[in-house]
Amino acid sequence: MSTKQRVFSGVQPTGEMHIGTYLGAFRNWVRLQDEYDTIYCIVDQHAITLPQDPDDLRRNRIAGAKVLLATGIDPERALVYAQSYVPQHAELSWLLGVMTPMGVLNRMTQYKDRLAQGHAANLGLFSYPVLMAADILIHRANLVPVGDDQKQHLEMTRDLAERFNNRYGDIFPIPEPLIPETAARVMSLADPTSKMSKSDENVRSRVGIVDPPDVVVKRIKSAMTDSEPTVRYDPEHKAGISNLLEIMSAATGRSIDDLVAEFGDSGYGTFKLAVADALVDLLTPIRERYNELDDGDIVKVLADGAERAEAQAEHYMREVRTAIGLNKL
Ligand code: TYM
Repeated sequence: MSTKQRVFSGVQPTGEMHIGTYLGAFRNWVRLQDEYDTIYCIVDQHAITLPQDPDDLRRNRIAGAKVLLATGIDPERALVYAQSYVPQHAELSWLLGVMTPMGVLNRMTQYKDRLAQGHAANLGLFSYPVLMAADILIHRANLVPVGDDQKQHLEMTRDLAERFNNRYGDIFPIPEPLIPETAARVMSLADPTSKMSKSDENVRSRVGIVDPPDVVVKRIKSAMTDSEPTVRYDPEHKAGISNLLEIMSAATGRSIDDLVAEFGDSGYGTFKLAVADALVDLLTPIRERYNELDDGDIVKVLADGAERAEAQAEHYMREVRTAIGLNKL
């Protein structure tokens, strides 16, 4: 097996992939392919912790993988597959679950947020972070590129790996999160105090990765801002403008200071058009690749990836089962 350090990350196929997932995660996933042994997973078993229509789930799984390939994930270099095709994820999740204190899960903010949004508590939603730990540990990943919202889950994964190793020997590497400096938390365009989300019913809250230029312009133009006309970075008092500054900085590689120097007094209309232009430049090549990809090829990529992922996961799981005393005699 490869001696390169290993990278694992995942995305839920729960709706339209947006610029938050791209700037916060996928862009790093693409960069890491050159140097690391990379594994990217469509985590459909996580998706069903909230109700999903079966046809939508099947469609979103393909569309999600298609977006990943369009952003530059190369299945010749990265392993790309769907979680549900590889049963070892759920198996390891059970084995880690018996080592996870309820109190730790009770403190998870994503779980608390879901309840606050009105979702009924269920065991899967509660143990979501344990399945996430299993995803990472099943492949013995060293690095996990994610957005800021996954930080707490990563801390829990590290704790579980340590707990397991203390009890059963040195089996899992302790994985490190990799969180970008800008755009680690892209906010909703409709409500800049909450995160941009795939599952938000308000489509005006986000820009999709494969949205055409006219939609990108429309969404950015209608982004909620404030009534004081200066463009400056102040997330507490000017959440909308600060979010647009972060998005433009991440899209262009220019510093926020540099953008403020140019657009400080230009007025919101001019600034918003510049943000939209930067996004159109960034997204156009991705949208063009997306439109060229064929669903049948994506299905094959996922099936081939799952075969390789399952072989690797099973290899490691034998050691885990033996360590615990669950190996077949
Ligand atoms: P998910 O599907 O919500 O998002 C996929 C990735 O995109 C990042 N992200 C964002 N980054 C910046 N701003 C935003 N508005 C934004 N929205 C999403 C997320 O941080 C994530 O990196 N629990 C994970 C999926 C998962 C996973 C894993 C990740 C399951 N198992 C193992 C890493 C390792 C999730 O719901 O991501």
